Amino acid sequence: MSGAGGSTSRHLLSAGDLSRDEALLVLDTAAELEQVLASSTVGKLPTLRGRTVVNLFFEDSTRTKTSFELAAKRLSADVISFAAKGSSVSKGESLKDTALTLEAMGADGIVIRHSWSGAPVNLAHHVRGAVVNAGDGTHEHPTQALLDAYTVRQRLGRLEGLRVTIVGDVLHSRVARSNVLLLHTLGAEVTLVAPPTLLPVGVETWPCAVSYDLDAVLPKSDVVMMLRVQRERMGVSYFPSSREYSRRYGLDVRRAAVLGDDAIVMHPGPMNRGIEIAPEVADGPRSTIVSQVANGVTVRMAVLYLLLGSAEPAIGVEVTRG
Ligand code: CP
Repeated sequence: MSGAGGSTSRHLLSAGDLSRDEALLVLDTAAELEQVLASSTVGKLPTLRGRTVVNLFFEDSTRTKTSFELAAKRLSADVISFAAKGSSVSKGESLKDTALTLEAMGADGIVIRHSWSGAPVNLAHHVRGAVVNAGDGTHEHPTQALLDAYTVRQRLGRLEGLRVTIVGDVLHSRVARSNVLLLHTLGAEVTLVAPPTLLPVGVETWPCAVSYDLDAVLPKSDVVMMLRVQRERMGVSYFPSSREYSRRYGLDVRRAAVLGDDAIVMHPGPMNRGIEIAPEVADGPRSTIVSQVANGVTVRMAVLYLLLGSAEPAIGVEVTRG
């Protein structure tokens, strides 16, 4: 627990660190916060008054950065939003020194996005406050998986036994890894569908099935989660052309038509409209994309509350500082 022996604290670094009970606690807490906020006239809770959250973003973000900031403000925390561009990072200051500097100014929690897989784990070994992974390289994005699970449960009423198909650029996707780990913990059956070139080495050890045939998997899917083709992380060409990729792995109107009546379509954003998902599908009645963004604020409120709201954090993995 936080502060035990003066040398450990709790963090949210990987979706795989959450037990089933911890993951459900986050989802249930988010649902309660949503209800409380809906009946509040001020749209704010005093829960984290006097606490300081630092958003440390070394990589671009629209949804995650904004929603963590809103989440902290809705819990009455003080928020510092730090962008690496324009900071002393450009003078060569290390991640550790940057974080220790911000902590010296009173940060209780650090939300970090970084292009290095493992940067949040590294940081957790150096700081006293709680570290939340807001996306590290191609590794993990645990709060995205939590908000996705929240959205699925909100739309379909359950997670246990659901068949979830995750489609596309798994190789570069931290969202895919975190979703596979969390959905497995919560009892869903996950299938990854991708071209062989866009699957990571070792995917056979992940707790999911793998297919190369989207048309065969779609009719059996309760949830279809489309992944962004991450061109900025591709040094080489992983498929012949965007047109060919869309033809084999894109969710267009014809493909969406084979889904069951209640099946939903998700995308973490940002989208490449017309490549991995057709605009008509992204904006159609099955789409949960706007709800995912809205739920991101509530779920991140729950994460901050459970990590920072008391002396004994209710979730997260314990890391010893050294
Ligand atoms: N889904 C997601 O992480 O979006 P941003 O990159 O805009 O934060």
